[in-house]
Amino acid sequence: MGFDHTTVMPAEVFAHQNLKPGDICVDGTLGGAGHAEKTIQAILPDGLFIGIDQDLDAITHARNVLHPFKQNLILVHDNFSHLSAILDQHGIDPVNAIVLDLGFSYNQITRAHRGFSFNRDEPLDMRMDTRQTMTADIIVNTFSQQALADLFFSFGEEKFSRRIAKAIVRERAGHPLKTTRHLTRIIEDTIPKARAAASKIHPATRVFQALRIAVNQELDHLSRFMEQVPDLLTRGGRVCIISFHSLEDRIVKQHLKTYEAGCTCPKTLPRCVCHQQPVMRSIVKKTVTPTPGEIAANPMARSARLRVAERI
Ligand SMILES: C[S@@+](CC[C@H](N)C(=O)[O-])C[C@H]1O[C@@H](n2cnc3c(N)ncnc32)[C@H](O)[C@@H]1O
Repeated sequence: MGFDHTTVMPAEVFAHQNLKPGDICVDGTLGGAGHAEKTIQAILPDGLFIGIDQDLDAITHARNVLHPFKQNLILVHDNFSHLSAILDQHGIDPVNAIVLDLGFSYNQITRAHRGFSFNRDEPLDMRMDTRQTMTADIIVNTFSQQALADLFFSFGEEKFSRRIAKAIVRERAGHPLKTTRHLTRIIEDTIPKARAAASKIHPATRVFQALRIAVNQELDHLSRFMEQVPDLLTRGGRVCIISFHSLEDRIVKQHLKTYEAGCTCPKTLPRCVCHQQPVMRSIVKKTVTPTPGEIAANPMARSARLRVAERI
């Protein structure tokens, strides 16, 4: 089975992980294992790499390409929001580095036939983990008009959320929406032509993003992961997170801000009563972004933002 992949900011992620031989590292979004091989090389001969992905295709691919490192490798088909439990199950203490490269993989667009792209005609699925039951088909054909509008607005920041929801509900009464092409056509017919022409992105981009986030509960899983981070890292251990849109980045940023601040007392109190100390510090000012050269070679990288923080 072939596997397509592109790796965003490989050099930047590698440099910021600050690895040394013997380290224990986690990649929670293994994908095409693009970040993995360099990481494993750096922790040999006795380091341990834990690779996680909720898509079984990614795990199968990693088992092949990372075979030479099988002594130093644990591969887990699971969600990174379960990382604390995964490490417990394998008897692993806090780790030296964790990488998340969020969102969907190039392989999921090009080969999975699960409806991730509006440029293809595929079933409305969008599950990264095919063991789960919720699909884009279920959402589009059963959610109320209001629920669809709210979803497109909150997860897609789609200005025409109400209009699109109304058009979907009208269409599905006669013709349930089963394919990405059908959904894309409804969106194209609904968004004013002048607005669509003035936009840099395809008119279906935001609705597809919203559906993918909802199907995979991406923001919930990211929040659950972020809650665990300080307990998962050794002192000096680092977390590197690449996000691709502001909803994800906001979750990462807000958690890191809380961990850096320590004290959670209201500003109105004259002095701290919670006595909470900072547990992490940011390693980069704001975010690291891909170079113009990387964006030219891989346009999917254009919205990527890397945040790095260290356990103190
Ligand atoms: C952008 S790709 C990673 C690409 C990879 N870093 C590379 O260089 O090849 C994101 C991957 O993370 C996986 N993923 C997304 N959210 C996940 C989650 N909550 N738990 C586990 N895997 C997840 C997806 O299935 C996909 O394979």
